[in-house]
Amino acid sequence: MRAMRAEQFNGYKELKPVNLPKPAVTDGKALVRITAAGVTPLDYTILSGKFHGSKAPLVLGNEGAGVVEEGGGTDFPAGSRVMFFGPYGAFEDGTYSEWVAVRKKDLCLIPDGVDDASAAGIPVAYLTAQVGLTRAGFRAGKTVLAPAIGGSIGNAVTQLARALGAKHAMSSTTNHAKAEQAKALGFKEVIDTSLEKLADGVRRITGGYGADIVIDGVGGEVLSEALEALAPEGTLTTLGYSASRKTTIDVINLIVPQAGIRGLNMFAQPQAAVTDAWKLIVSLLQSGAIKPIVAKTFPLAEAAEALRYLVEGRPFGRVVLTI
Ligand SMILES: NC(=O)c1ccc[n+]([C@@H]2O[C@H](COP(=O)([O-])OP(=O)(O)OC[C@H]3O[C@@H](n4cnc5c(N)ncnc54)[C@H](OP(=O)(O)O)[C@@H]3O)[C@@H](O)[C@H]2O)c1
Repeated sequence: MRAMRAEQFNGYKELKPVNLPKPAVTDGKALVRITAAGVTPLDYTILSGKFHGSKAPLVLGNEGAGVVEEGGGTDFPAGSRVMFFGPYGAFEDGTYSEWVAVRKKDLCLIPDGVDDASAAGIPVAYLTAQVGLTRAGFRAGKTVLAPAIGGSIGNAVTQLARALGAKHAMSSTTNHAKAEQAKALGFKEVIDTSLEKLADGVRRITGGYGADIVIDGVGGEVLSEALEALAPEGTLTTLGYSASRKTTIDVINLIVPQAGIRGLNMFAQPQAAVTDAWKLIVSLLQSGAIKPIVAKTFPLAEAAEALRYLVEGRPFGRVVLTI
């Protein structure tokens, strides 16, 4: 089968086409013919040699969508359309390939009306967003900020918070054109940080109150500025570092509102948290309350270009490989 494999973790040039044997189906796994693979910043982190635990050579791709061919049992009979995320592309070969043997516990049926490219970009973003909101104690009426409306986490948190009754579901962008695009797509509470400081925007939107919950995948200065926006007893969850792993914080932003900061690692979630998140996400997809956004698709052979487009182009929406 065709796959795109990182021969070493040393940049885009190491991502090469290879021919590998089709995976064998063992107990508890289903053979999935991959139709689309989500391209995520994790793939780039791994390819750059900055992720603990991955070993080269490795087929990248942490999430995907496809069709069950065998081994799915009664829950996922042959022909079922499925989407999934798990250790794939990080600790074992991933979805930048024609087939993957997927643990059945990682599979979720794709609701009717959701196409394969959209489905391939759902698992990592929406599971992380929902688990992050749950761990932060989200309930209807809370004010939520998730920076980077065009990014997968920022967009998924904003859509989920809005669908689940947040009083304010706020996001941001550093790019004026993206702020306009967000408005046109119906995201009304996006702070354009080329015009206004992040915390000023949050105070303006919330009438001075702030954000009960911040979910941040950007890091760097965005994280320290988001801390300034916390409401009394608010929490910031840090889960990524598209901008930087390092930042300086002003501790007064935690002390005065008695706020908290914590981390989130999707590889460390109990299965029950993921199962609960899937149930909610599927029901919101079915009702149309959330709508995944795909910015661009690339053929499998152009995986390196797709990754470069994600990281350097900073698109609005997901980048997906069609297989
Ligand atoms: N901990 C976990 O379990 C977990 C799970 C999922 C994802 N993650 C991580 O979360 C992070 C975000 O993922 P994602 O998929 O949302 O990323 P993404 O879709 O690539 O979005 C990143 C966005 O961040 C903004 N950005 C990038 N560089 C920036 C900079 N230097 N300064 C300010 N803003 C910048 C850009 O928005 P603008 O251009 O609009 O400003 C960009 O679109 C990644 O590090 C990912 O690996 C972690």
